[in-house]
Amino acid sequence: MSDEDVQLEARLEEQEVFEPSASFAEQANVTDEGIYEEFEENWPECWEGAADLLDWEEDYDQVLDDSNPPFYEWFTDGTLNASANCLDRHLEERGDEAAIEWVGEPVDEDNVTYTYEELHQKVNEFAAGLREMGVGEGDVVTMYMPMIPQLPIAMLACARIGAPHSVVFAGFSADALATRMNSADSEYLVTCDGYYRRGDPLDHLDKANEGLSGVDHEVERTIVAERLMDGDGFDHDYADNQVAFDDVIADNEGAEVEPVDRDAEDMLFLMYTSGTTGKPKGVKHSTGGYLAWAAWTSQAVLDIKPEDTYFCSADIGWITGHSYIVYGPLALGTTTMMYEGTPDYPDKDRLWEIVEDYEATQLYTAPTAIRAFMKWGKQYPEQHDLSSLRLLGTVGEPINPRAWKWYYKHIGGEECPVVDTWWQTETGGMMITTLPGIKDMKPGSAGPPLPGLDVRIVDTEGDEVEPGRAGYLTVNKPWPGMLRTLYKNDERFIDEYWAEYSDTDSDDPDDWVYFPEDGAKIDEDGYITVLGRVDDVINVSGHRLGTMEIESAIVGVEGVAEAAVVGGDHDIKGEAVYAYVITEDGYDETEELRSAIIDGVEDAIGPIARPEAVIFTPELPKTRSGKIMRRLLEDIANGEELGDTSTLRNPDVVSDIATKVQGD
Ligand code: PRX
Repeated sequence: MSDEDVQLEARLEEQEVFEPSASFAEQANVTDEGIYEEFEENWPECWEGAADLLDWEEDYDQVLDDSNPPFYEWFTDGTLNASANCLDRHLEERGDEAAIEWVGEPVDEDNVTYTYEELHQKVNEFAAGLREMGVGEGDVVTMYMPMIPQLPIAMLACARIGAPHSVVFAGFSADALATRMNSADSEYLVTCDGYYRRGDPLDHLDKANEGLSGVDHEVERTIVAERLMDGDGFDHDYADNQVAFDDVIADNEGAEVEPVDRDAEDMLFLMYTSGTTGKPKGVKHSTGGYLAWAAWTSQAVLDIKPEDTYFCSADIGWITGHSYIVYGPLALGTTTMMYEGTPDYPDKDRLWEIVEDYEATQLYTAPTAIRAFMKWGKQYPEQHDLSSLRLLGTVGEPINPRAWKWYYKHIGGEECPVVDTWWQTETGGMMITTLPGIKDMKPGSAGPPLPGLDVRIVDTEGDEVEPGRAGYLTVNKPWPGMLRTLYKNDERFIDEYWAEYSDTDSDDPDDWVYFPEDGAKIDEDGYITVLGRVDDVINVSGHRLGTMEIESAIVGVEGVAEAAVVGGDHDIKGEAVYAYVITEDGYDETEELRSAIIDGVEDAIGPIARPEAVIFTPELPKTRSGKIMRRLLEDIANGEELGDTSTLRNPDVVSDIATKVQGD
C-alpha cells in the first residue's frame, strides 16, 4: 500500500459509524433525541430531573446559585442524606434484592451477596460504631482499602452520619497515605489486614501502620477489616487505638442510626488526585449535586435499571468506583458487582466467567484492560456465554478504534452499544459520551457532550477552533457534579481550573470557563476526540500520575542530582513512566542506583508509578531559560524523530540521550 492509501484507510477508519442496535434502542432509558435541545432551552432547570432521581428531606429553593463564580451552588437549601438515598428508600421494594454482589479473588471462596436489607443493617451498625468512637459531622474519615465489601459499608456509614470520607487507593504507598491524612487532618482510618493478589495474600496492615507513623497529628482510631482467610494472616499486634471491623459491627448489632440531614452543598467526600505540582489535590465533592450527577449519568449513559446486575471493574479507590460502583448504581437501587482481583487470575477468562455466572448486564472498564484482553485473544471470552450483556463502557483514557472494535465485536457480540465516557475526578461523573439509545458511535471519539453541557474546543486565546483542528477542551457552563473547590485551598482551585480562560475579576458566570487540561478536537457532527493531557500529568493504565510527584521521589534517592519524568507510549498501559536521571558528583550510573530509584518511586507513590525505564544522562535538554524540554524527552521515549532542538541551550545532549535509549 502506498502512503496515500494508508492515510486514506486511517481516515476511513476514523469515520466509521456504528448505530445502536434496535433491540437496545427500544428499551433504553433515554430514547428522545429532543433531550439535547430541551436541555439547552431549559438550562439550568433541566437538572431538576436529575435531582428528582433522589429523595430530598427538604426541597431545594433554587437549582443553581451562580452569584459567586466559580463557587457555584446547586439545589440550594435542599437537604438530603446520601446513605438514605442509596439504601433506606429501596428497602420496601428491593430489600431482599442484591445490592452488592461481591466476588473474592480466590476461586474456591464463598462469594458474598449483600441484599439491600443486609447492607443497610451493616451500614447502620458501622455508623453507630463510628459515632461511638467520636466521629462527628464534618470529620474526615480516611479509608485505605482494596476491593472488599467493608469499603462501601464504611463509605455509606460515613455518609449516614455526615462525615466525609477520603478513600486512598490500596495500591498507593504508605507515604501517599500519610500525605493525604495530613492534608485532610484526618483522625480516623479504616483499613484491612491484607488481601489477595494473583493467589498470594498481601500484607496491607503493615503498609497502613507505616503510613500512620508518618501522620503529623494524633490518630484517634484505626479500624481493621480482617479479610484474609484463616492461615493466611500476618502477625500483627493491634495498637491500643486499633480495633477490628467485625468487633465494631458486633458491638453495635441491630443498631439503627438516623441518617443526618445534609445540606446539598455539604461535602460528601474528598478524593485526592495528581496535578501539575508535587502535591496531590484534594477534590471536594458535594452531597446533592454530586449524587444527582452520579445517579443521572448512571441512568442515562449506563442505562442502569433496578433489575440489572451491573459490573464496573474499576477500583473504588478511584473516582470511577465512587461514582459508578457505589453511589450512582446504589442510588438507582440496582445490583452492583465488586470483584476483588485481577482479570487474569487464575486465568485470563476470569471476568468473562464472572459475567456469565452473574449474568451481568453492563460492563464498564478501561481501555488498558481492553487492550490486554485483545492481546490475550478472543478464545477467552469465547469460552463463556456473554449474552446477558446489554451495554459496554470504557473510561480513563482515549481508546484506539481497533480496541474499541474488538470490545464491540468479541465482548458485545455487535449488539451492545459501547459508551466511551470522558470525564475526570473533578467532574464527578461523565461529561462527554454518546447517549447509547439514540446516538451513533464513532470508535475513537467519545462523542458529543451530554445534554445541558456547554463544551468547546478552543485555541490559546479561548477562540473556538475549526472542526478537525486540535485545541483545548473547555467547559463553559457549570454542572451539578462539578468539584466545589480544592480542600481548604480556594486559591489553587481557581488557579488550576479557571484562571487560564476566565476573567477572574468578574462575577458574571459567563466570564468563567472551566479548563480540564486536556487537548481535544471536534468533528462536523460535534463529536469530540480527546487527545490527552496538556499538563505534566501522565496517564498510566487509566490512572493519573503527576510527573512532579515522581520526580520528587527520584531526587529523594541518594546519588540523584536531577530527574525529569515523561510518559512514553505503551501498548497496554497507554503510557508508561520514563525517568531521565542525572547522578550526583561522586556517584556512578550503576544497576544498584537504578534499583534504588525504582524502589524510591514505589515507596513514595506505589507500584503503578514504577518507571518502565531509568535512563542515566549527564545533562537534560533545556531551553535557554532553563526549562526542561519534556516534549523532546517524550519523542526519545517513543522512538520518534526528534523535533526542533535549535532553541536548546545544549542541543548535543539530545542525540546523546537518544542514542542511549534507541541505540545507534
Ligand atoms: O485525560 C483525561 C483522561 O483521564 C483524565 C482524568 O483522569 P482521572 O481524574 O483519574 O479520572 C479518570 C476516570 C474518570 C482526563 O483528564 N480520560 C478519562 N476518560 C477519558 C480520558 N481521555 C480520553 N477518553 C476518555 N474516555
